[in-house]
Amino acid sequence: MDLTTNYLGLRLRNPFIVGASPLIYNLDRVRQLEAAGAAAIVMHSLFEEQITQQDGRTADGLSGYQPQAAAFELNPESYLKQLIKIKKSVEIPVIASINGSHEGTWVEYARKMEDAGADAIELNLYFLPRSDDESAAVIEQRAFQIVRMIRQYIKIPISLKLSPFFTSLINFSHRMEEAGASGIVLFNRFFQPDIDIYKLENVPSLRLSSSQNLIIRLRWLTMLHGRLRLSLSCTGGVITYEDAVKAIMAGADTVQMVSAVMRHGPDYLSKTIEDFSSFMETNGHNSLSKMRGCMSFSHSAEPEQVARSQYMRIIQGWQA
Ligand SMILES: Cc1cc2nc3c(=O)[nH]c(=O)nc-3n(C[C@H](O)[C@H](O)[C@H](O)COP(=O)(O)O)c2cc1C
Repeated sequence: MDLTTNYLGLRLRNPFIVGASPLIYNLDRVRQLEAAGAAAIVMHSLFEEQITQQDGRTADGLSGYQPQAAAFELNPESYLKQLIKIKKSVEIPVIASINGSHEGTWVEYARKMEDAGADAIELNLYFLPRSDDESAAVIEQRAFQIVRMIRQYIKIPISLKLSPFFTSLINFSHRMEEAGASGIVLFNRFFQPDIDIYKLENVPSLRLSSSQNLIIRLRWLTMLHGRLRLSLSCTGGVITYEDAVKAIMAGADTVQMVSAVMRHGPDYLSKTIEDFSSFMETNGHNSLSKMRGCMSFSHSAEPEQVARSQYMRIIQGWQA
């Protein structure tokens, strides 16, 4: 089965990417992931705050609560060194990741990543809008500005890892395309703090994903597919080969896996790719490009009505 696919203009041997995570710290592990079939690998994110701290500056509104540089496994310099080592160790594309949300000179760091050999940059736009005064339009404008600025510094493709909380994601994605993005990664998973009701403390919690996390991604993939030139990548809740099939049928060009690989190791990835390929063969899907998006809204005659009627059916179909 030919699983080759195009993502951000990069030719990949299959649609399975290992998403941003600490899995890249160990070079043996990275080689194992390539041997297990990973088509590309995304590095852990370098944070805007790490870059500005190194430069002796503090990003606006962020002072006081930032972990010090030593708290991060890789500082900006060691990040680039690790990127160079990974590039020497594997042949698959390596995507560097920056996490930032404020305009600033930190965006120049993308050029250093490009110079170090990154095949693309995944920009994680994670932030929590906490201001009383800042409208959604202002926040979106800032995001466009960041993408435009990074675009000026580099030639390699930029993908955007987004949160699901945009009022009009389709419109936003179109404008990101205009700003120079080549792909959208759906969606950031938030590792939200829980509350300890006895100690009255916020407790940071990291729960690995389950397939349940996939559902919201499927919804938005089905709506975005076929409307944009941007590549679409699904991250969050791709645990089994069935999850990967669903994401591709919804419209994803690639799927990214982290939790499942962290839990079960690289062999699990090769088994998932094998099972994915067998599924296609057994079920008469002889081309990835034909299977891609076959369940998206672009294949539906009246998408708006379908969405509303699905909603009504679910809400009204519940038997008490
Ligand atoms: C331990 C851990 C570290 C992560 N670090 C990053 C990161 O540095 N940058 C990023 O964009 N996403 C990061 N993520 C999020 C993953 O890339 C991925 O989007 C998320 O885990 C959902 O995918 P999954 O369901 O396959 O785990 C991390 C996830 C985990 C579990």
